[in-house]
Amino acid sequence: MKRRGISSLVHSLWICAIWIDPAISFGTINEPEVVGQHCEHERITRAAFACQPDVTISDGRCFEELSLHQLAGRSGPDGHVGWGTNGAVGAPDLLDPVPEGPEAHCDNADFLDTEAHGIEAAYPRTRQEATAQLQVCTNHLRLRFLEGVDAADKLVDQHARIIAPEVDISGSDCRFSFPDLQMHWFSRGKCSAIEGFGRALHGIQDFYAHSNWADDAQPPYSLSNPPGLKLDKSPLFLDLRAENNITDQVPHDLSTGCFGGIMTDGPEGKAGHPLEPGSLDCTGRVTHHTLNKDNGVIDYITGETSEAGPNTPRSDIPGNFERAVSAAIRDSRRQWRYFREQIRRTYGKERGNIIICALIRDNPTQDCYGRRIAILRDVLKNTSRIAEMQIPVQSWLLQEIDGVAHDEGPGEGLTEQNSTKSRGSSGELEKEDDDHRSDLVKKLQPLHIGLDVGTAFKALRDNPTVFPTNKTAIIALTRTRNLHLDEQIAHVWHAGDEGIRVHLGLLPPPHSPSDTIDSDDEEVAMSKAKEEDLITGVLRTGGTYSILHNEDAVPSFLDHVVSRGLTQYDNARDTATLLPPGISISDYVTPESEPRRFSFDASELNNAIIAVSPITPKLSLHVCVRHVRRNAVVKELDIGLDGNATFRAELGIGDVPRTDAWFELEVAHVEGSGLVGSGLFEVSIETENVESYHSSKSSKQEAETVSDEDCPMHNEL
Ligand SMILES: *[C@@H]1O[C@H](CO)[C@@H](O)[C@H](O)[C@H]1NC(C)=O
Ligand SMILES: *[C@@H]1O[C@H](CO)[C@@H](O)[C@H](O)[C@H]1NC(C)=O
Ligand SMILES: *[C@@H]1O[C@H](CO)[C@@H](O)[C@H](O)[C@H]1NC(C)=O
Ligand SMILES: *[C@@H]1O[C@H](CO)[C@@H](O)[C@H](O)[C@H]1NC(C)=O
Repeated sequence: MKRRGISSLVHSLWICAIWIDPAISFGTINEPEVVGQHCEHERITRAAFACQPDVTISDGRCFEELSLHQLAGRSGPDGHVGWGTNGAVGAPDLLDPVPEGPEAHCDNADFLDTEAHGIEAAYPRTRQEATAQLQVCTNHLRLRFLEGVDAADKLVDQHARIIAPEVDISGSDCRFSFPDLQMHWFSRGKCSAIEGFGRALHGIQDFYAHSNWADDAQPPYSLSNPPGLKLDKSPLFLDLRAENNITDQVPHDLSTGCFGGIMTDGPEGKAGHPLEPGSLDCTGRVTHHTLNKDNGVIDYITGETSEAGPNTPRSDIPGNFERAVSAAIRDSRRQWRYFREQIRRTYGKERGNIIICALIRDNPTQDCYGRRIAILRDVLKNTSRIAEMQIPVQSWLLQEIDGVAHDEGPGEGLTEQNSTKSRGSSGELEKEDDDHRSDLVKKLQPLHIGLDVGTAFKALRDNPTVFPTNKTAIIALTRTRNLHLDEQIAHVWHAGDEGIRVHLGLLPPPHSPSDTIDSDDEEVAMSKAKEEDLITGVLRTGGTYSILHNEDAVPSFLDHVVSRGLTQYDNARDTATLLPPGISISDYVTPESEPRRFSFDASELNNAIIAVSPITPKLSLHVCVRHVRRNAVVKELDIGLDGNATFRAELGIGDVPRTDAWFELEVAHVEGSGLVGSGLFEVSIETENVESYHSSKSSKQEAETVSDEDCPMHNEL
């Protein structure tokens, strides 16, 4: 939110910190008494991204202290000039040498339907013109967002090793460069990534301060009192991952303000001022002054507002400043999720997770490294092991599952700090009570022994100094379906209590004749209730519960495990996780945790067929498939009471340059009498060869129906 307090021939000093002299120092203005500035962008950004007050370690989503300073800026104490730093979110207002133009603040997309509101004079701009300007703003923010994503590539090398100098902000704060020279060759990768994201965030936050999106307003409407839309969801067209023409997604009465310049901005639109370079003729238009809610006090922890204004008439309507601020906080979080999803898509889940880890953590070369994984298969397969690795490398995990040990020892990476494998080692999982176990082996039929989550749990828990338990995980693959699996439920819950993630993959049960002779009363399938307990226990750890369709699906299973986040250090729960073919993934929705999101691709060669079905009785689900780049809903419907739904996603003409299409599935519960609000469901994907699909289609008509409906918005927390 721009501050327009100080008069200056160049531009007002809008933000907390100002660039007094680029060659010498940064400075800060936090001067509520005279100038009326309260660091609104900084405070909104802090409220959106700070870790909980008593938490210093990020949960994978919040920014740790020093990293947050780079994004939000750090104001000095009240009334001081020359303290603190600018954050990336404030960069578009910086005098470097002039602030970014109207496209960076979503200004000048003003429109008033004078005819519909009974106002005599015709409005000087059409809806189309206003929308075109909004498109310019959206495209600009999408570009900044992508600049951040591009720069993030520099943080880690091709093997997902952190490049220490690119992430080190301990010595000096980031300095943000001239927007038009933004090639990021000279600044640290972490700073450049945060800069791109922060500059985009600035415009997102400004949109709510400068528009009537969240406003309340009462008729009669006029140039100085345009209608308010009072919307509390985030606008679909501001999805910065998307590339679409936003025309059909812009509400008819949406308006931002025409900003003539410092000297002409007022309740009445005026002609531009000759002494002010670049000032605009806002005659007869809704002005920035009329609509803005730029000023007020925002609590930087809770985001609560007070003392709205003065001098922002729209804030005089009760609640408008508060609505603008809370919408800005909510959308800032949404864009941060989009940013992480875009990074994971662009650089893959392995590198992507480490890049994100390095962006949010102050000490990434320490905190992003070091994992300890127990890998379990049904015991007699002899491949239960403990593996230590610096970062979750999927190909490595795969070899571990095959029983190939990794004992490279130190010195494999370039340096001890940033090598992936210097701490790598693995070995057989030690059994505490070996003798006792061999008795068991004798007594029980081999296949009934099943997994031993308890031993793995103890091994991980009892070595906590080197690896805190929240950097450890259990990956278990089993063919067992019998009663012995439910004996593991208690161990899984204990693991969850300790912060150990458990990922459970169920392989198809054996079919060979020698196996079936074991079919006696002990082969009884787990009861449905027990199975739901087990699934719930596993999901509660943050891990995945997946059914593998066949033996070949182990890599797919690991795809999903790494995408979901091997340990608590690896991925926050709000992002879409990869939905690979060959497995059925169980997940749950609750009013607090939903929606759950999955991402998948359709490509030139393969369509994707998605199936969703509730597991919990009486659970009814709202499912929605979106094409991310086109920002359009492909399919949306409610399923429930044991119903299933399938969706086909295919490559469209607009996807041809990339030859793939990015889709997102959202699953949430449906309210209704007799239905429950939380429960388990299952989702899977199959690929379908495009050739055979087309040859079997009777008509060449496009099956895909694209609408502009939004999926219902849910808590972005
Ligand atoms: C992991 O556990 C350690 C030690 O208990 C704790 O300090 C840290 O905050 C935890 N990290 C996360 C991401 O929860
Ligand atoms: C977006 O679509 C509208 C209406 O179809 C069209 O008038 C406009 O030129 C398009 N904008 C761009 C940037 O292509
Ligand atoms: C299983 O382990 C035993 C002893 O640890 C070893 O002798 C045997 O070769 C292993 N079997 C397989 C299939 O790896
Ligand atoms: C839904 O799908 C599940 C799993 O694929 C299947 O077991 C069940 O029979 C299906 N139910 C209906 C009503 O089609």
